Amino acid sequence: MESITSYMEQDHVLIDGFAARAVTAAGAGDWGAMQREGGEFLQRLRRHIEMEEDVLFPAFEERTGMRGGGPSQQMRVEHEQMQPILAAMEQAAGAQDGAGFRRATQQLLDILQPHNVKEEQMMYPMLDQAVGDDAQALLRDVKAMAV
Ligand SMILES: [Fe+2]
Ligand SMILES: [Fe+2]
Repeated sequence: MESITSYMEQDHVLIDGFAARAVTAAGAGDWGAMQREGGEFLQRLRRHIEMEEDVLFPAFEERTGMRGGGPSQQMRVEHEQMQPILAAMEQAAGAQDGAGFRRATQQLLDILQPHNVKEEQMMYPMLDQAVGDDAQALLRDVKAMAV
């Protein structure tokens, strides 16, 4: 059976691919590709964060009683730190500002990469452990939200 860890890890990889292609396009001055790949990145990352905050983290918090001070709270704080940078990426893409887009994306990745490692190595495995057989129902809810 599929674990929450493996599904969400795959989503990280998929989302990272859009960022990499958008940065390449920005460097090449290909604004159409920068906007398309960057737009997909933003939409998919925002949806991924909603899957976590609206479905997965509440299930974890309910099962474990860990809320403030727990790992899901720390992940929520990091999501909040990403928000202004996502807005800067969107703004730069809209303005066809390739240098600004690459700078903002690098800032975002400086937070997102260690964030994803923490989720993959700690948050998701703890989630799978905490929810047991309910993982399948949670995955159905998460997949229904997929872009
Ligand atoms: Fe996250
Ligand atoms: Fe994640």
